Amino acid sequence: MVPPSRIDAAPCMGKRPAWARALPLLAAALVAAWPVHAAAPARPARLGLCAACHGETGVAQIPGAPHLAGQKADYLREALRQYRDGRRNVPLMRAAIGPVSDADLDELARWYSAQTPHVQGNP
Ligand code: HEC
Repeated sequence: MVPPSRIDAAPCMGKRPAWARALPLLAAALVAAWPVHAAAPARPARLGLCAACHGETGVAQIPGAPHLAGQKADYLREALRQYRDGRRNVPLMRAAIGPVSDADLDELARWYSAQTPHVQGNP
């Protein structure tokens, strides 16, 4: 004897309308389009300097510089404040960041946070 739940479930499986079958595709398209149309922060004006060491997309370009892509925006914002205010006393980063406003730091933090991190192997 087949349990009633299976009898109920079977007929609707084949009767899904075409639009319902297209839903996963639509969802995938939306996710693909999302960073371009909604979530992408504007490219910060000060990014050029940072890119020399951290890359435009947060993948480090020099030995010793950390990858920043996909890091939490709150963490990046706080780290940048610490360099600016001298609580992190790393001359290289302090010189790079300079006397910037909180708004600038926020822009940079959101930019790097929105980048896709790359899987990293051992160099
Ligand atoms: C000359 C190379 C260089 C430049 C230019 C530079 N950085 Fe850095 N950055 C570094 C290095 C090296 C570190 C690691 C410092 C340390 O040990 O704290 C670092 C650390 C950081 C961190 C902390 C990461 C963490 O995980 O704690 C952030 C955030 C950051 N940089 C953002 C920026 C931004 C934004 C800019 C542009 C305004 C910038 N950096 C410019 C070399 C650079």
